[in-house]
Amino acid sequence: MCGIIGYTGMEDSVPYLLGGLRALEYRGYDSAGIAACGKDGITTVKTRGRIDALEEKINSSSCKIEGHCGIGHTRWATHGAPSDVNSHPHRAENLALVHNGIIENYHEIEETLRAEGYDFVSDTDTERAAKLIDHCFKKLGDPIKAIFEATEIIRGSYALGVIFDAHPGKIFAIRKDSPLIVAKGKDGCFIASDIPAILAHTKDYYQLSEGVVALIESDKVSFFDKNINPTEQKLLHVDFDVEKAQKGGFPHFMIKEINEEPEAIRKTVSSRISERSLPFFGVDMLDGEGISKFKNIHIVACGTAMHAGLIGKNIIERLARVPVNVDIASEFRYRDPILGKDDLVILLSQSGETADTLAALRHAKSKGVYTLSIVNVIGSSVARESDSVLYTLAGPEISVASTKAYSVQCALLYLFAIRLAYSLGKISEDEAKALCNSLLHDVPVYIEDTLKLSDEIKSAASEYLDFEHLFFIGRGIDSALCTEASLKLKEISYIHSEAYAAGELKHGTISLISEGTPVIAIMTSSSLAEKMISGIREVKSRGAKVLAITTKEIAENYTIPSEEIITVGCTDELFAPFAVTTCFQMFAYFVSALRGNDVDKPRNLAKSVTVE
Ligand code: M6R
Repeated sequence: MCGIIGYTGMEDSVPYLLGGLRALEYRGYDSAGIAACGKDGITTVKTRGRIDALEEKINSSSCKIEGHCGIGHTRWATHGAPSDVNSHPHRAENLALVHNGIIENYHEIEETLRAEGYDFVSDTDTERAAKLIDHCFKKLGDPIKAIFEATEIIRGSYALGVIFDAHPGKIFAIRKDSPLIVAKGKDGCFIASDIPAILAHTKDYYQLSEGVVALIESDKVSFFDKNINPTEQKLLHVDFDVEKAQKGGFPHFMIKEINEEPEAIRKTVSSRISERSLPFFGVDMLDGEGISKFKNIHIVACGTAMHAGLIGKNIIERLARVPVNVDIASEFRYRDPILGKDDLVILLSQSGETADTLAALRHAKSKGVYTLSIVNVIGSSVARESDSVLYTLAGPEISVASTKAYSVQCALLYLFAIRLAYSLGKISEDEAKALCNSLLHDVPVYIEDTLKLSDEIKSAASEYLDFEHLFFIGRGIDSALCTEASLKLKEISYIHSEAYAAGELKHGTISLISEGTPVIAIMTSSSLAEKMISGIREVKSRGAKVLAITTKEIAENYTIPSEEIITVGCTDELFAPFAVTTCFQMFAYFVSALRGNDVDKPRNLAKSVTVE
């Protein structure tokens, strides 16, 4: 997630901007830059890489940047690879601008502006926004009016900080669906994406409301509504220390990232739905007839990403009736998989740098098979080397245990399944649109409802702290969910657990069930509910202690013979896996946290596994 800082005051802005950017480093970034407005107008310095590299560039003899007013940015790439030219701030004739968010209609904006004589140097949506505001400014001559007019045209999410050559000492800011705060310190005033960036200067801040432009000057901040009338914003106070502030007030990154799932899904899905409300990938092989040529699909990944592949297999086979194999990337090339010319290999990876996944991709390419990657980190190796890439827009995931990245991988695989099923005539256009609509609008709400069960889930988790072994059981797609629920619990709680297809237990493993053995039963499929209930009875009659995680519909229509039930709010069974996922992720989180483990950095694990 990009980070924004802006400072205007009595002092040189550069140290304030660099200090603010450093305090936002936890958000993850691949490039950084600042712009300052001095005697000779606006100067920018930006670079791919870390803030140290930016500072080195600023201190080099070839570069001179100064001014009492400036804006800074750390970029987490969403449009265009990490590079100097794609870094922010972006320059237009009369202004420099920083942006956090996604501008969905940037293509349209570009076309309109090209007709007006504008050229573009970067691949970013942000440069289009900068030049649109510039265009409005030339017409209206007033920064606030220009920002309002441009944001009427822009669709998507944005937090914008803008400085104009003609208005030295002033920063203008606006936001929609991306965070931005405004603050007044003793040496000057600030804008920032998040509280840590201003904590060294003040603990009081305004959370900028949507539809309001903030004008930040060296000794005052003011706010204007759409009619350019002054408006008030509520002053807030924070008691956090810097570390807590970086986690948004949550005790760990993992629980913060679980709470970010609704937003991550909204961003990812909305970036891949066309104006006709159908999936749109911007890739010829996937959007047109091309996608229907694939006869076999292989999903290849590691760990949590591979488990997202299991969900994808279920949904693709169910909606599109195309066979899907799911492979562990470290095994893929060694089993010499049978790959045909009409096959598609999908690589899933949060980091895009997992060595086994990269090797599997290269193996598939060496066999001449079309490769599609679903990756969270823009410009990563898997993204660069695959024939086409769909980015998940989860923002940086800092906790080693993957949570929001899994949910958005599943969301993109659902979209892929809808597109494939529609192209193959397995579902009608109306059905495809309705499914897209549910994915975009209902799924985030199901997750939000599950997040509200936090106390209940924590209390359930508190009963599992002293066990050494645990089983997750489910059938159909629920058995795929169990694999991820089990991994999540294992990696951060250090409790051994196994995921089992409920019907398979009786073929051997049930001998491990004895008095008090904990079993968690995941039940989202009503067509399999009775079979699951039989499975629960089988383990209960051997003494198991059962916790069921299920949907309202199943809980209301069946008597589940478990000691405890957690019911997630979800009215559409097809999408219930998202709500259940959030539930078992929180369960694992609370078990780990209550055991006093280092939740975000579990022992022996690394975030990105770049060795075979
Ligand atoms: O970056 P990737 O998605 O390729 O990483 C794959 C796995 O290493 C990763 O999902 C791992 O299993 C996580 N620790 C799970 O939480």
